[in-house]
Amino acid sequence: MTPAPGQFVMAIMQGEPAAHRIPLFPSSIHADGFSSTMLPEHWRPGDKLDLLGPFGRGFSPPGSAKRWLVASTLERCHTLRPLIEAGLERDLELSYWGQGSPALDPAVEVVVELGEGLEWADYAAFETGRGALAALQETWSGIEHRAEIQVLLISDLVCGFGACQACATPHSRGHKLACLDGPVFEAHELSPGR
Ligand code: FES
Repeated sequence: MTPAPGQFVMAIMQGEPAAHRIPLFPSSIHADGFSSTMLPEHWRPGDKLDLLGPFGRGFSPPGSAKRWLVASTLERCHTLRPLIEAGLERDLELSYWGQGSPALDPAVEVVVELGEGLEWADYAAFETGRGALAALQETWSGIEHRAEIQVLLISDLVCGFGACQACATPHSRGHKLACLDGPVFEAHELSPGR
């Protein structure tokens, strides 16, 4: 089955030991599957893969949202690309804020100030590691905005299905597992700065 935006599969090249399985997020979703730009360097076109999943909770923009901000603290905006594709297909207004300079569809307007983007948006999807979360939370709690915010938190996804606890994430209701309860969380669910 094809992962939805924000979901992932656990992948190995056929013949590799099971311990080498890695999380793979879609970078583009097609009618007949998906592609990803997050592949290990030793994989080659034509290699046969063994996939488990999809796993996790993906992005779920409200149907009424017409102005989406996609925002990344990572270099290449990997996991947000299928969401951008979905927004463009629905002819929505899209803006991007990020710390990298990924190649984007010209219809996506790049904003320089995160606060400005949030004030404009009615839905915002973030991709970030835990280290940058506190600064983001400070920004979105310090301005008036009406955007519903979801965050794909990059975590250590070792098993992908709840067995290893490596992806335990501080949460407003204790700890949650990014592989089962995330990796996309509502912004207000994530414990501040931890
Ligand atoms: S990745 Fe193993 S419990 Fe989440």
